[in-house]
This record gives sequence, structure tokens and C-alpha cells, in this order.
Amino acid sequence: MDRIAITGGARLNGSIPISGAKNSAIKLMAASLLTDEPLRLTNMPRLADTRFLGKLLTRLGVSVTESDGPDGQQTILHAPEITSGFAPYDLVRQMRASFNVLGPLVARSGQAKVSLPGGCTIGARPVDLHLQALEALGAKIDLHEGYVYAQAPRGLKGAEITFPFVSVGATEHAMLAAVLADGTTVIHNAACEPELVDLQECLNAMGAKVQGAGTPTVTITGVPRLKGASHAVIPDRIEMGTYAVAAAMAGGEVRLTNARPGLIDALLEKLKEAGAGVEETADGCIIRRNGERLNAVDIETAPFPGFATDLQAQFMALMTTANGESRIRETIFENRFMHAPELMRLGADISVSGGEARVRGVAQLEGAEVMATDLRASVSLVIAGLVARGETTVSRIYHLDRGFERLEEKLGACGAQVRRIVGDGEPEL
Ligand code: EPZ
Repeated sequence: MDRIAITGGARLNGSIPISGAKNSAIKLMAASLLTDEPLRLTNMPRLADTRFLGKLLTRLGVSVTESDGPDGQQTILHAPEITSGFAPYDLVRQMRASFNVLGPLVARSGQAKVSLPGGCTIGARPVDLHLQALEALGAKIDLHEGYVYAQAPRGLKGAEITFPFVSVGATEHAMLAAVLADGTTVIHNAACEPELVDLQECLNAMGAKVQGAGTPTVTITGVPRLKGASHAVIPDRIEMGTYAVAAAMAGGEVRLTNARPGLIDALLEKLKEAGAGVEETADGCIIRRNGERLNAVDIETAPFPGFATDLQAQFMALMTTANGESRIRETIFENRFMHAPELMRLGADISVSGGEARVRGVAQLEGAEVMATDLRASVSLVIAGLVARGETTVSRIYHLDRGFERLEEKLGACGAQVRRIVGDGEPEL
């Protein structure tokens, strides 16, 4: 298996273009199941997760063609007919968001059999709200032997859906199913993440009638059929935030481009509070730090527009060398501190109790061998490695490849000493 080696100590200076958002791209790809015409997605990131989903969609009858189009990386997805409504465990297990094919499959062809995704290192991550939404839309749901069987032979029906708490995936799933339902659906307590707005824009370009995404109430007026469209994937706010933290950690001056203002305000506020220089630009931001040690600040994760849970591990890495003690509260997932013991291998002083971690800043981290446990945890180790004395080697980086496009190249272009060590093909224990 491949590993990433980082030699700490280099400051970062340069510019990093932000890719299209993984967490939007994979929901937009699922939308291709809703029409027999081609859906062209531009600003597409090339990631392990988009490849996994492409593989599953191909089995369901979608042709998936990746190419470099007139406006950059594009994927054209075309499902003239659904040839199978079956999503097997092997594929759904590899990427849990594959579960979101269930709604579009039932909406278009009246039935589907999709594996339950199972747990995950960051938490149990049940899908009860997804199923509640589909049942409200009139699907008959049965669970057998790890699979969800959903049926709506006469089509889905518009409904009022009230989520008991905010779920990004369940809101997206309800939108993907309701666009072809008969009548109007209103989703109350919807997630407000920017990826929902992106999904709304893409669905509307396909002829859907969705409004309110980005607010807690989303209204969908069902239409009998959708058509093909072309849509540019929103910039990846988590990638943007990750490189903002990396720049604040390593010092120097980094300009993040191809992004949008307003996507990571909660993080930028915290970076300013910690003492980093932050300048917002028309297509991203500039992050500066000139040698001064950062101050410890507290964070608490929350649904958008709060501090994103997907940036918590990176921020914890930043706080390991800040001046003072930082309290980090994780409120979205119950087990999202797996990076803490790995950061401690680099010399960080962290104690975790329930949903709270206390990070006491140390003057210097030391390079060591560490192991990635999930996508965002793995990049937090790379960030820590940027300032650790000597060499840090991160193993199990297949997690990293799921969500960060050309990470070594992007950081390397700013002067970071980051290289991939290609493995011998042996699986890692
Ligand atoms: C999305 O996951 C993202 N994944 C996550 O990013 C992100 O951390 C999360 O939203 C929160 O922002 C994708 O978009 C592919 P949720 P999702 O449903 O939709 C509980 C990354 O690193 N819940 O908003 O699965 C759930 O267990 C990933 O890119 C239920 O109890 O998140 C969690 O505690 C990690 N029942 C909370 O709600 C349900 O049916 C919020 O989860 C659904 C969720």
C-alpha cells in the first residue's frame, strides 16, 4: 500500500486551485439515474469515491464517461434505461453515499434493492431518516438480510417530511426521490449545506422544480420527467478549508483559488482569532502567517453555517502547536477523534473525554510513523507533518485518495516536502 512521507519545516508559498466538491459530485452523479438523457458534470474531481460510485452506476445501466472537456475535467452520465435496481453490499460498503441511489432508483423505476451501508470509523451512521423520508413519499420499505427493498410501483407521492434533526444525506436523498413524485413535497428541518444548493441547481437545470435549498425548508413540486443538463460542481469547501489550515500551520502565504467566498466563514473566523492573516478574495482567500505562534482557540462542530465536522481533525492538528489550551467539541459524529492518538504519536498533548478533546499546544512536534483512520483524519496527519521535526510517514492513505485530488502536487507546488511512497502491493494490517 502507498504511504505519504512529509519532511517538516518548509513554509508554504504559492497558489492552490480548489477542485470540485466530492460530497456534491457524488450526489449529482446519482441524479443521472433520474433521466434517460445525458447529464454532463463539469469541475468534476477525480477521486476514489467518484470512481466507486461510477462503478456502481455502471452496473445499474448508466454509462459513465470521464474526459477533459472544453471547461476542464468532466463526466458525462447517461442512463437510457435502468438495467438493474440492485446495489450490492460490496460496492455500498466501500462508499456509504452509494446508498443514495435508492431514492432515484425507486423514483424512476418503482423498485430497488440496495445494501445497508453498515457502520463507519467515525460513528454508527444509521440511515433511518433516509428510510423515513422514502416511506413518507409512499415507498414500501422492507429490510432483509442487510438489504433495503423499496417499492413504489405506482410512483412516489409528494408529502410533508419533518426530520427530527439535521441530516445532509437524508435531505439530499429526499430531494433526489421527490423530484419525480406526484405532487408537492415539503422538507422541514432540512440541512442547509452548500452542497444542497448545488443539488437543487443541478436538478432544476434538469427540469425539476425545487426551491428553498440552503434554508431549513425545501419545497419540491414533482414533475413527470427530467431531461439532460450540464452543471458545474460547486468548489470543495472542505478541501479549501484544509489548505487554509495547512497554510496557517506551516506559515508563509497561500492563495486559494477556484473557490467561492462564504463557504468556510466559520473556519476563517477561527483562523483570524488564532492570529493567522485571512484575506477573502473574489474566488477564494489568502492565508498568511509570518512566524508568530498561533493562539489556542476553541471550536464546536455544527451543521452549516457552523464549524464543519469535516474540518475538525485539521483544526485539531493546527492547535497541537498553538500557544495555550484549545477545547474541541465534536457534536455531529460520536467517534470522530481517531486522529487524536495518531497526533499524539507526533508529540501532541491531547486528552479526549466523550465528545470533547483538550489540546495543549506544544512548542514542537516530532516526525513519526502514523496511520490514517478516515479521510479527514488522514489529512490532519499530513498537516501536522508539515511542521514536525524530521520525517512523518502516513500509512493507509487510501482514505486520503478518497477525497483529496493531487494532494502531494498541490502542497508540493507551494514548497511542501511531501512525497508518495508507492507500496509493494502488500495489504496493510
Ligand atoms: C455528510 O455525511 C458528509 N458525507 C460527511 O462528510 C459530513 O461529515 C456530514 O455530511 C456532516 O456534514 C457526504 O456528503 C458523502 P448526516 P452524512 O446525515 O450525510 C446521523 C467526509 O469526510 N444520522 O448529516 O452521512 C449521523 O449518524 C464525510 O467527506 C442518523 O442518525 O451526514 C450523524 O450523527 C464524513 N440517521 C448525523 O446524523 C440518519 O438517517 C449527521 O449525519 C442519517 C444521519
